[in-house]
Amino acid sequence: MDDGLLENALDVVRKHPLLGQPASFFMNDPYHRPTRPQDLKLDQLKKHLPKGQLSQPSYLAAQRLLMNRYEQDMVFLPIEKPLNFEHFNGFYNAELRKALELLRPLLEQHVFGWLDDEISLSGSWDLESFLAYTSGVLEKVRDAPSGLLSSIQNACDPKEAARYYLIQCAGDFLSEASAMGRNVLGNFGPFTSELFKIYLDEYGYGVHEKKHSTIFERLMTACDLDPSLHTYWQFYTASSISLINYFHYVSHDHAKFFRYLGAMYYTEASLAFVTRSQAQAIKAGFGDNIDTLYFDEHNHIDVHHGRMALDKLVIPMIKQYGVQIIPEILRGFEEFRLLQDVADEDLFRNIEWQDNLPKYVALAREQFSGMSQAHVDATFEEPQNEISVPHAHPVAELFSVQTGLIELVASPAKSILLKAGESIVIPKGMLHGTKVLSATSRYAVTGLE
Ligand SMILES: [Fe+2]
Ligand SMILES: [Fe+2]
Ligand SMILES: [Fe+2]
Repeated sequence: MDDGLLENALDVVRKHPLLGQPASFFMNDPYHRPTRPQDLKLDQLKKHLPKGQLSQPSYLAAQRLLMNRYEQDMVFLPIEKPLNFEHFNGFYNAELRKALELLRPLLEQHVFGWLDDEISLSGSWDLESFLAYTSGVLEKVRDAPSGLLSSIQNACDPKEAARYYLIQCAGDFLSEASAMGRNVLGNFGPFTSELFKIYLDEYGYGVHEKKHSTIFERLMTACDLDPSLHTYWQFYTASSISLINYFHYVSHDHAKFFRYLGAMYYTEASLAFVTRSQAQAIKAGFGDNIDTLYFDEHNHIDVHHGRMALDKLVIPMIKQYGVQIIPEILRGFEEFRLLQDVADEDLFRNIEWQDNLPKYVALAREQFSGMSQAHVDATFEEPQNEISVPHAHPVAELFSVQTGLIELVASPAKSILLKAGESIVIPKGMLHGTKVLSATSRYAVTGLE
C-alpha cells in the first residue's frame, strides 16, 4: 500500500485525543485508550518483529492499536457509570475507524508475523495423527505444575500478585467471547449451531447473571478491583493483549476460520485443566473464602466446550471437508498455544517485578551508583503531574532521578518513589510508567546491555 496513505493514517492516530496523553493511569470509560503513538513509526511497522524482540515499544503500541481497531466492531457502553458521549463518538469515529482499518494488515503482520517463523507443520496429516498429536499436547498441559499458582503463592504480596493477574485477564474476560461472535453468523450447516451453543454458554443463554463476563465482574468487585471495562487499559501487557487480539485476528478474516477453530479448541480444552489452579491462585491471594465461581464454572463448562469443539466441530468438519483443513486447524492450535506460553512467562516475570520494586532500587544502588554520566542515553525534564503511559523497553534500563520526585509505577497498586539521586533498574520488557510529583523533575535513562 501507498506509504503516503499509511503515514496519513498514522497521523490520524497520533493526533486522536483518546489515544494520546492521559491525565491519570486509570481510565474512566471504555473509549479512552492511550497508546503511546510516539512508539509507532511506519518503517518499523513494515517489518515483523522476531520472537526475541517482543519487548520493542512498537510491539505494545501496535497491540494496543490493533485492539482499538478490533473493538470498534463491538458495542461498549459504560455499566453503572455515565456515558461520555464525546468519547463514545470519538472512539467509533469514522475517520479513526478508516485509519485503523488501513493500518490493520500492517499491524497484524508486525505483531503476529513471528508466529510463522516459529511454527512449522511439515508432513502430511490425517485425522488419526492430528488426534494423537493434539491429545498429547493437551495431556502435557494437564500434567504440568501450575506456574501461576507458584508465582502467586511465592510472591511477597500474594494479594496484589493475584490482583495483577486478574487485571491482565480483565481486557479479555470483561467482554468474554466477543471475538467468537464474529464466527457465528452465516451458514456452515449444523456446525453453525454447534458453535452457537458454545457461544450461548459464554453469554449465559441470555441470563445476564450467568454471562461469563458478568461472573468475572463479580470476581473483580470481590477483589476490590473496578469491574468497568478497560479501567486498567494502561496496565495490560502486550502479551496479555496478544491473546485477545489473536482471536479477533483469526475471526475478523474468515479465510482464517479453520485457524480460529484450532485456537478455540486449544483454549477451551486447556482451560478445562488450568482453571482449577487459577481458582487456587486467587485463593492464595485472597483466602479460601473468596468466591471463585468464575474459574469453577469454567472448570466445569470448558470440559464440555473442549469436547464439543472436538466431537461436534473439529472431527466432523475434518471428515466432511477433508484433511486439507487440518494444517490450518493445527496452525491455530499451535499459534495460540505459543502465544499463551509467551504470555504466561511474561506474566510471571511482571509479577516478580511489581512485587519486588525495592529490590531493583537496591540493585541500582549497589551495582550502578558509580556509573559515569557519559553512558546516559537520554535525559528528560517533565512538569508536575506529567504521566508516562506504561510501556516496556527492549533492554534493561537504569532510570535515575536527577532533580525532583518521581513515582515509578509498575502496576495499579505497586509503585515506588524516587527522589533526586535515586535510581532503579527496570528489567527488559517489564511494564512501567512514571508520574512527576514535584514542580518539575529531570531524569536520565541508560541502557544496560
Ligand atoms: Fe467462558
Ligand atoms: Fe468456554
Ligand atoms: Fe521507560
